[in-house]
Amino acid sequence: MGPRDETEEVLLPTRRRSFGSDDDAFDSDSDLSATDYVDRPKRRRPSPSPQKFSPRRRWCTFLFETCGRRSKCCIGVVGAILLLWLLLTAGGVFVYKKVQEEPLYGQSPPWYPTPKGGIAATWAKSYEKAAKMVEKMTLAEKVNVTTGTGWQMGLAVGTNAPAVYVGFPQLQLQDGPLGIRFADNITAFPAGITVGATWNRQLMYARGKAHAIEAREKGINVLLGPCVGPLGRMPAGGRNWEGFGADPYLQGIAGAETVKGIQSEGVMATIKHFIANEQEHFRQPWEWGLPHAISSNIDDRTLHELYAWPFGDAVKAGVASVMCSYNQVNNSYACGNSKLLNGILKDELGFQGFVMSDWLAQRSGVASALAGLDMTMPGDGLRWANGESLWGPELTRAVLNGSVPVDRLNDMVTRIVAAWYQLGQDDEKKFPRQPPNFSSWTNEEKGVLAPGSSSPQEEVVVNKFINVQANHSVIAREVAAEGTVLLKNENLLPISRQGLDAAKLKARRSIVERATGKRHTGKFKVGVFGEDAGPGDGPNACKDRGCNQGTLGSGWGSGAVEFPYLVSPIESLREKFDSEKVELHEYLDNKVSFSNKDSSKVAVADLELCIVFVNADSGEGFAKWADVSGDRPDLKPQKGGDDLVVNVASKCGSGSGDVIVVIHAVGPVVMEKWIDLPNVKAVIFANLPGQESGHALTDILFGDTNPSGHLPFTIGKSLADYGDAGQVLYLPNGVVPQQDFNEGLYIDYRHFDKKEIEPRFEFGFGLSYTTFKFSNVAVHSLRHKTALPDKRPSPAAKPPSYSIVIPKKAEALFPPEIRRLDKYVYPYLDNVDDIEPGKYPYPDGYEVQQPLSGAGGAEGGNPELWAINIEVDVDVKNEGPVAGAVVPQLYLQYPAKEGIDFPVKVLRGFHKVFLKPGESKTVKFSLTRRDLSYWDVHFQNWLIVEEGEYKFLVGGSSRDLPVSGVW
Ligand code: BGC
Repeated sequence: MGPRDETEEVLLPTRRRSFGSDDDAFDSDSDLSATDYVDRPKRRRPSPSPQKFSPRRRWCTFLFETCGRRSKCCIGVVGAILLLWLLLTAGGVFVYKKVQEEPLYGQSPPWYPTPKGGIAATWAKSYEKAAKMVEKMTLAEKVNVTTGTGWQMGLAVGTNAPAVYVGFPQLQLQDGPLGIRFADNITAFPAGITVGATWNRQLMYARGKAHAIEAREKGINVLLGPCVGPLGRMPAGGRNWEGFGADPYLQGIAGAETVKGIQSEGVMATIKHFIANEQEHFRQPWEWGLPHAISSNIDDRTLHELYAWPFGDAVKAGVASVMCSYNQVNNSYACGNSKLLNGILKDELGFQGFVMSDWLAQRSGVASALAGLDMTMPGDGLRWANGESLWGPELTRAVLNGSVPVDRLNDMVTRIVAAWYQLGQDDEKKFPRQPPNFSSWTNEEKGVLAPGSSSPQEEVVVNKFINVQANHSVIAREVAAEGTVLLKNENLLPISRQGLDAAKLKARRSIVERATGKRHTGKFKVGVFGEDAGPGDGPNACKDRGCNQGTLGSGWGSGAVEFPYLVSPIESLREKFDSEKVELHEYLDNKVSFSNKDSSKVAVADLELCIVFVNADSGEGFAKWADVSGDRPDLKPQKGGDDLVVNVASKCGSGSGDVIVVIHAVGPVVMEKWIDLPNVKAVIFANLPGQESGHALTDILFGDTNPSGHLPFTIGKSLADYGDAGQVLYLPNGVVPQQDFNEGLYIDYRHFDKKEIEPRFEFGFGLSYTTFKFSNVAVHSLRHKTALPDKRPSPAAKPPSYSIVIPKKAEALFPPEIRRLDKYVYPYLDNVDDIEPGKYPYPDGYEVQQPLSGAGGAEGGNPELWAINIEVDVDVKNEGPVAGAVVPQLYLQYPAKEGIDFPVKVLRGFHKVFLKPGESKTVKFSLTRRDLSYWDVHFQNWLIVEEGEYKFLVGGSSRDLPVSGVW
């Protein structure tokens, strides 16, 4: 018996049991009051069922099956291999050494039933249209719409199935946040973190729009982005770079602008990952050798003020879809967590679209439907690519036996169909009902439509190689340049095409001559150092960009794309320097022996300017490079970057040459080893610039663009400076790793402020080639200060209502004319005779209808929360010699309130404003009620502090706030 047969024997009975069994009820929440998240005694967690075998575990099973019972020697070999496997699996080592009890499951309060979509005025028409379509659907069609067809069962990374008879097409879902994944002839835009660093709302929108044009022209309905979670609690977190920065306000604005940009083209945006998927280690079961995913344990106020905040902005912006994350939150899987999905997302935030699971993040069948999940992706259930869905035929069964109410299924489907109408995707000219015109799975012109299935299929044209790039390289370059942060500049930048401008050159040469007695004549000698300056083996050398080689344009994982090209820094430097005046010498590796590739063999000691490139990479947890398992192990520049800089600085012009350090990185990098070296005159933090890397960098270096990027995170002097909360949990602290967010609101700059730690470069920091002056803060109150918002409004529209009669069982039978593909997820069943309605053990709290949130009532929550309460004006003037863009930032300080702890300050406003030399403008910040409030756990609402004074501090970074006003 081979592994597959063995697995099937185990799987089938278990799988049936998971609907209508105790196990299923365990996979949901239990009864806590809304403010009590952690300590009440809960149910025993279901032991991981045999069906949760990972590929690794299946492989072991295979070994046992093939040789296990036959020879002792073979058993010995297998034993040794298993031991090795355990040793290699950090999690495994820990767990088996230190057997620990699993924490009780479901410490998140229950919130039932799922609020129905269709209450918002903004979506009313789409819901009316959707209702007309959904009421005509059969049970199988409804299930089709909610369930993916399986991994690699379509040309996109996710596809559901159509409802053919009513005219609802198969939806094509594709990553990701920075471009169209697995596609040709697309743009590799700068990553989210670079977009965050621009602090430019218009560019955030423009990038989203261009991305969506490409998606639509490639045949994609749903983009799996933008990403606002992780938020960046831990600076070494592997996927922080997909998002926009370690502050909820910045993430919220950038996420919402991106959503608006994407959806302006009719493509559905997906805001992800909901919620608290802050690190890669242990993010999902078995990937790290453990049977369960990590639990992020968060208190109610922190959840609202930090992690859920940007999702609120996205919902307000009308986002069509929300992706729930892999991890658990308060010991309940995020995709089966009724408090999060039903309570916060659908009731409090009034989300009108559909909740989609991350790929295999659904961990239960009925329970996740009841908890508010609407679509499962990619369709396979607990294991990759086995065709065993937790929904599909099992959802059909669950509806027929009464465990999933028909009403819930109708709401799931209506939400998806309404989102499709809402984005105008019923327009067949814009969204032809066809597969995408590219395949994620082959670069050949021809291939099969469902490569995940081994069933014989006809080959058809799957790649049409359509070029959708248009002029998007212009936006990509602008974002990359504006997202470049100048951290240090001691009168060196900008340089000129001749090296340095005549005055600077003369001054420099005479200083060196005086100091060394050596006279530089002739061409200006520039050295470029570091592998990160060059093309390496090409930008796509490693699958999913899962390695650090050549210049770093993006992190790795599902958030990366195939680069159509990547302009490396050296290419652009070669182009820009005037070869009549400048000698360019290239040392494009990180060796400290400095062997330059050109023939001149100029001594490093003779160089006058040295540009050193270092980088730091990370990515999604499914891939590992060197010692970076998704999350970085530290914040150092990688590949010996520190040594490279120190060495270049000491040898460049014998220590008197000027040094510019350029950093490409996924997040903060500690630079203490060299930042204060006297000849390190300039430091440029270029984030992850995408395909236009070299061009954008030289735009800044040569002063064609005046730098205006600002840090979207704090750069500390050490990883330890970020405190306990800033540390990734690299080794599991139990069978279900527990990560307690005990620091509450104090991450990134909030932590540095509270603990009075001097960062190296603070959040919001960024230099320019000119100087700006802030003055005249004026605060205008537009409304009375009242603690609570007005009452939640009654729904502006009524959700559709349908018959709730359970359909006839015969509807679920496999139509005989269907030619079945192996492992493809269908909605049908072979036999329906054994399906009987019965008593289903619903989760604790299921029967108790929850009170509606006072913070809810419309899309984005109570509309009162979005009303502008305060306007703050500030004047800003360009006092320097050149034109440039300034980013006035507004930080708020709350009045003191007994029993409530407030951060020293929180970001609540920013704009990017272009000013000519001598020009000044008045900038207006509009603050909503939500901006001025804190989340009160007793009132379960956003509250303004009525007593005392609010202070608004304005300036150029979180620690450079020269002017202020009060309210
Ligand atoms: C990632 C998601 C991505 C999905 C589909 C998952 O592993 O976490 O961000 O959208 O795969 O590729």
